[in-house]
Amino acid sequence: MRIAILTSGGDAPGMNAAIRAVTRTCIYEGIEVFGISGGYEGLIDAKFEKLVQSSVADIIQRGGTILSTSRSERFMTEEGLEKAINSLKIFEIDALIVLGGDGSLCGAKMLRDRGVNVIGIPCSIDNDLAYTDFTIGFMTAVETVTEAVSHIRDTTEAHGRANVVEVMGRDCGDIALYSGVSSGAESIIVPEIPLDINEIAEKAIMGKNRGKKHHIILMAEGCGSAFDFAEEFQKLTGIDTRVTVLGYIQRGGAPSIFDRILASELGYLAVKEAKAGRSLALGFKDGKAISRDFDEIFEVKKVFRKDLLDILKTVSI
Ligand code: F6P
Repeated sequence: MRIAILTSGGDAPGMNAAIRAVTRTCIYEGIEVFGISGGYEGLIDAKFEKLVQSSVADIIQRGGTILSTSRSERFMTEEGLEKAINSLKIFEIDALIVLGGDGSLCGAKMLRDRGVNVIGIPCSIDNDLAYTDFTIGFMTAVETVTEAVSHIRDTTEAHGRANVVEVMGRDCGDIALYSGVSSGAESIIVPEIPLDINEIAEKAIMGKNRGKKHHIILMAEGCGSAFDFAEEFQKLTGIDTRVTVLGYIQRGGAPSIFDRILASELGYLAVKEAKAGRSLALGFKDGKAISRDFDEIFEVKKVFRKDLLDILKTVSI
């Protein structure tokens, strides 16, 4: 049997740990394993390389992806899709394992619909796939943001300022929500909840009146301009307000322990499912690894953790 693996879309810490788990499980099972470089672009151009034990040595702790990644527009065309399927035929691949987020798993489903055996492993810092509690890379991003906010808080407090920290997540507020709770931010702004700037401003003024010397607002990138918000907030509160756009710092770095374990678990399960001839998207639900049909995963609606937001509002005053 032959399995190929690719990483697609935005990289996420833990992708390498998953590549390692897939490769080593394949070798253990006597399956030949090939790495495709550059995501679906590399699949179209048949950039396959055989992976051996040592190909994945010393990578469990590294961010990024040793296979490189891309956001492929060609793959979305009929011609690109056909070429991709043809590459798999040329290399006599029995199953493809795709590591990536929303768009990448959508691509995996397109291949599945054309008769390719595909396993999807959810990897994205955004945590925007509803069928799984967590995507690989999300918890690491939350840790990175939490660490960054503790630095920002020091200088914000020293000057008696407010700081609006813009975080990634595309249309999903999970990075802002979880790191808001873990960093003790005073307020968060997420796409899932309508913005009430007066509520945030009142909270800041009350804090200032009590002698509080900092006010941290975590703003998800899907909520518009952090600079515009900061300007209005400063006008309403009279508090000197700065903006920090954390950007790509959130996507790199060593994966957290949680992400390494999740990646190892799902990488291992991916090979087992592929060996059994199944085409499925893997995930993590209620503390357990799960396998779901590709048709199901895009039907589920993401539920925002309003309970976590309530906790933040209660304890971060
Ligand atoms: O999907 C991960 C992500 O980092 C999003 O949070 C962000 O909006 C996007 O990718 C940035 O994409 P790019 O790397 O193409 O600029």
